[in-house]
Amino acid sequence: MRRKHIIFFVVAMFLTWNMLMYKTIVGKSNGVQPHNHENVEGKLSVLQSEIEKQLKNNEQLLTELRKLRSELSEKKQQSQLKPTQAVVTQAPPKAKGPNSTGENESWLKLKDTDKVDDIVLPILMIACDRADAVSRSLDLVLKHRPDRKRFPVIVSQDCGHQQTSDAIQKYVQDHGVVHIKQPDLGKVNVPWPQRKFEGYYKISRHYKWALNQIFHTFNHSAVIIVEDDLDISPDFYEYFAATFRVLHQDSSLWCVSAWNDNGKLNMVKDDPELLHRTDFFPGLGWMFERKLWLELGPKWPDTFWDDWMRHPDQRQGRSCIRPELSRTSTFGKKGVSKGLFFEKHLKFIQLNDKVVPFTQRDLSYLIKENYDPKFVQYIYNLPEVTASEVKAQSKKALPEVRVTYKTKEQFKDAAKKLGIMDDFKAGVERTAYMGVVSFSYQGQRVHVAPPSDWAGYDTTWS
Ligand code: UD1
Ligand code: MN
Repeated sequence: MRRKHIIFFVVAMFLTWNMLMYKTIVGKSNGVQPHNHENVEGKLSVLQSEIEKQLKNNEQLLTELRKLRSELSEKKQQSQLKPTQAVVTQAPPKAKGPNSTGENESWLKLKDTDKVDDIVLPILMIACDRADAVSRSLDLVLKHRPDRKRFPVIVSQDCGHQQTSDAIQKYVQDHGVVHIKQPDLGKVNVPWPQRKFEGYYKISRHYKWALNQIFHTFNHSAVIIVEDDLDISPDFYEYFAATFRVLHQDSSLWCVSAWNDNGKLNMVKDDPELLHRTDFFPGLGWMFERKLWLELGPKWPDTFWDDWMRHPDQRQGRSCIRPELSRTSTFGKKGVSKGLFFEKHLKFIQLNDKVVPFTQRDLSYLIKENYDPKFVQYIYNLPEVTASEVKAQSKKALPEVRVTYKTKEQFKDAAKKLGIMDDFKAGVERTAYMGVVSFSYQGQRVHVAPPSDWAGYDTTWS
């Protein structure tokens, strides 16, 4: 009620002001003598300055109104969040490590999960011209799908490839899959030095169109987006349904991804329950909410959409949830990036094969307020060793260790020694959270971390 009153008051002020100004101006302009040029000019210039003044005032009023509204909506959001947060802090998960998954029934109940669990999570599959690939991907998406209504499958096809179109059509009749086609199949006008990247321009164009369909035509509230060369794990849906509750609640998160960039055999802890927060946008089977599309859609880039998302202008300090064991893996050897990255890296990422009933777990430990303090305390209390010591396994007796890096060269050196990804995007290492990259090395848990007084990512590191 208070909010309504204030808005009513401001709007009333705004209208009265406009009426008064209108009367003044009309009154003045009626007195204009058409035969006296000097007089007319003088009056017009007064009129102009009055209008300019009025516009300025209106602008000011509008700014104030906007400010007032955003303050009110912030207050409203805070008051809505409070009860849940209180419960979370009262009953923290039974934590051992920073990522332990204790059960906490009260969190599930008080979070009003019924409503969150009703939100439809469509699977958007991006396809082009690989008929076999899309069939393989769709087979698994449909095989593991627990519920047709909650998880409708929409395949968006680019490239106008008939064989692929026929392959998708088979799923339309039998499984209720929706098949949509990107209508603009024209060449992209790419300047010459960029021509070899035309494929990336097409992918970006397709993403934009398909996501506009999801949010503006089908009007969905969220989406799980996959590409046509991904296999999914049996608990893919459990994973996304459960993490959706966290994503929806925690505004410091902007996505949930199924992918671990360092998820190679022997580089991961064999714990399918283990989930993390990450500052690196992983993509490759990921979920986000409508409000993010309203923000990103209008400025969607012409090319390299995934690296664009990793830029601070887009990420704005937000994080994603990622699993220790990937819930997707890619078999897309033949693709736009020509398979080099695939042979060297992607094909080694392991797909989780166990089922974790994530929706029966309490995942409130992933919420920023709960996660960050524990994470920092945990990481910086670990014994410190060097990357060479880890590699030589000379400190094998320590189950979990920290390796410090202060410069980008030191990070790259440690990464090369230990076999993790050594690249940066906008200064962020793959899988990093607060600059910390966590993985397993010959059974030892390793966290390559910056010093404890770390002040944030350096975007010049590449
Ligand atoms: C890589 C990324 C991918 C990202 C893309 C753009 C990996 C493993 N893959 O694509 O996640 O989206 O860069 O930066 O890191 N497609 C079209 N139209 C085309 C060509 C392809 O819609 O003209 C679709 C494909 O069906 C597929 C997706 O775009 O779903 C990616 O294409 P792909 O050929 O698999 O390229 P990658 O090199 O894997
Ligand atoms: Mn691919």
